[in-house]
Amino acid sequence: MIILGIETSCDDTAVSLIRGTKNKLTILSHIVSSQIMTHRKYGGVVPEVAARRHVINIIPTLDSALRQAKISSDKIDVIAVTRGPGLVTSLRVGVQTAKVLAFAWRKKIIGVNHMEGHIYANWLGRHKISLPALCLIVSGGHTELILMKNHGQYKLVGQTRDDAAGEAFDKVAKLIGLKYPGGPLIQKLAKQGNANRFNFPRPMLYQKNYDFSFSGLKTAVLYLVKKEFSEKKLPLADICASFQQAVIDVLVKKTIRAAKKLNVKTIILAGGVAANDPLRQQLASAVNNELELTKYISPPLDLCTDNASMIAMAGFFHAIKKDYSDWHQLEADPNWELV
Ligand SMILES: Nc1ncnc2c1ncn2[C@@H]1O[C@H](COP(=O)(O)OP(=O)(O)O)[C@@H](O)[C@H]1O
Ligand SMILES: [Mg+2]
Repeated sequence: MIILGIETSCDDTAVSLIRGTKNKLTILSHIVSSQIMTHRKYGGVVPEVAARRHVINIIPTLDSALRQAKISSDKIDVIAVTRGPGLVTSLRVGVQTAKVLAFAWRKKIIGVNHMEGHIYANWLGRHKISLPALCLIVSGGHTELILMKNHGQYKLVGQTRDDAAGEAFDKVAKLIGLKYPGGPLIQKLAKQGNANRFNFPRPMLYQKNYDFSFSGLKTAVLYLVKKEFSEKKLPLADICASFQQAVIDVLVKKTIRAAKKLNVKTIILAGGVAANDPLRQQLASAVNNELELTKYISPPLDLCTDNASMIAMAGFFHAIKKDYSDWHQLEADPNWELV
């Protein structure tokens, strides 16, 4: 089965083609047209600007994906498109494009949840992932622990009560003068830093629930910068390393605790912050040391941040169940939560 994936939920215009068989998912083409340079001058994503760029980028991105895969439209079986959550005007560009293509080409269409797409980024090249799995989804808009009992069956275990982990990375980066998006830059600077220099809070670490909170951590960085370094040069590397470690400590400890309680077979890392190397490493070693029978998996680096291959892969699992959408009714839903 050949699936065309389309993703425009935020600031990346992405189109992919994948081949799905009973045993394996393979990427035939993977194009992401990034708008980072456009939004960087505003310090974050401007929704109206993002939507206008999607309108300009979507057809050239589709054209590139078809050319890269050397696939003509008649070979495509299904179109999978992100329907939500995300920015409504951005989502609409992808959904509308997918509907037009489905209508013109007479194809089946599937509206995919963006967070489900992040989870399915882990299925690339893999035959089978043992379920139930505990998914730690960490992105710019979400931080959630989700129990995946089976394909399409999800239960919310915990979530952030304020900022998402990626949002905390971006906001802290901004307040210490780094460019958008902050996550990759903080990771880079943190490599040279001392993670023990500043003892930032580990919010909600000892609470019995599986929720998170990152806004206080961001405020702690703000106070440090204002009080102790207002006139002096900021020790950027040490701030980055100490902040990053505080985020990782909470994410890893709460995930391990939830996994123990829920007795899951696999721990799945997903979302843009899953590209953070120290998080990948520390979660892997915590699973290794504390959960003998649990497997840990994380997506390939280029499938962590927003892309359309993950949407096509999630679409594949809906398609094999014939779980199609009706294109007459398919609309963008900016608030569509997975659970
Ligand atoms: N190496 C990294 N370390 C930490 N955060 C990262 C890293 N790479 C990307 N991020 C963060 O991931 C988030 C983007 O996640 P993504 O899933 O692509 O977007 P969205 O939240 O719009 O779905 C941003 O907040 C970004 O700072
Ligand atoms: Mg995302």
